[in-house]
Amino acid sequence: MPEPALVASHLGKVYPTARGGKPALTDLSLEVPNGRVYGLIGRNGAGKTTFVRIAATQLAPTSGDLRVLGRDIRREMPEIRKRIACVPQESRPLYFLNTEEVVYLYLKMRGMDPVEARRRTRDAMEELSLTEYRKRLVARLSGGLRRRTLCAMVLASDAEVLFLDEPTTGLDPIARREVWEAVRRTIREHRTIVLTTHYLDEAEALSSRLALIERGELKLEGSPEELRARVRYPYRVLIQDPFPAADLAPYGRVTPVEGGHLVFAREADARELARVALERGARVSMGPVDLEDIFLEVVGRSIEEDGSSETEIET
Ligand SMILES: Nc1ncnc2c1ncn2[C@@H]1O[C@H](COP(=O)(O)OP(=O)(O)OP(=O)(O)O)[C@@H](O)[C@H]1O
Ligand SMILES: [Mg+2]
Repeated sequence: MPEPALVASHLGKVYPTARGGKPALTDLSLEVPNGRVYGLIGRNGAGKTTFVRIAATQLAPTSGDLRVLGRDIRREMPEIRKRIACVPQESRPLYFLNTEEVVYLYLKMRGMDPVEARRRTRDAMEELSLTEYRKRLVARLSGGLRRRTLCAMVLASDAEVLFLDEPTTGLDPIARREVWEAVRRTIREHRTIVLTTHYLDEAEALSSRLALIERGELKLEGSPEELRARVRYPYRVLIQDPFPAADLAPYGRVTPVEGGHLVFAREADARELARVALERGARVSMGPVDLEDIFLEVVGRSIEEDGSSETEIET
């Protein structure tokens, strides 16, 4: 077995604040396998960016250990930095350069030879449909184009581990899919991507494993199939009227939706419900739950248990 790209053990982070500290990560342990996309999901303030910044050696943890490509983030920072690249959540490429220069200089600064850097700049700009903007100053680009330029820089690099913290936020649907294709191409080059996103369709489409973080803790981790197997109700049945809503409750968790009800159920109950509803002439569709259903179930339960709907608790 090759060594995992990342191994986090009992990682903790408390941000210093005037009132004694704000815990952002608590005892987080996980492994990111090599050569795949690893998705990080969770509510605003859950701790995803904190994890990414620690792994990208931009922030020191308060406790625990993290190894990136087998190296310790505290003691071997320079060695790690040469082999990783990061699209941070909040950042803009340098303003006073044009789009092409910004990508090319980033690759040169990483030590790539000029011919290779030219070629990779051209390819990445083509891949993310930036070629027509190549001579435009970054200062004159729209927000989405700046974000795409940052993605092009990092995806064009030869880093072995790429951290993409919400790379597609603010991108139009076509540009978003171009980033997906670039991510898939990067994976074919046997590189590793840690991807944070609030687009759960994106997380599901790209990730081979996922971690759901809630209030600094790992709530659920595994492949999409493993996540599905771990929730209480792995099936969803959509029942459109006419069907008496009162008869649905015994089958699982019922949610009203436009024109009918959505029932989350165990497999046998889902099949039984679908059969009964069809017999009564209702329109029915059934399938496994998607990542958004899993997210809402797990995070919803955590909110109920805590009695608070906000992750952001001011200290
Ligand atoms: N520099 C800081 N000082 C104090 N608290 C911080 C700091 N940075 C982040 N936090 C807090 O740490 C927690 C985790 O923040 P983090 O940015 O990691 O969340 P996130 O999961 O990336 O959220 P989002 O989805 O909104 O990007 C939050 O409660 C946040 O308010
Ligand atoms: Mg974040």
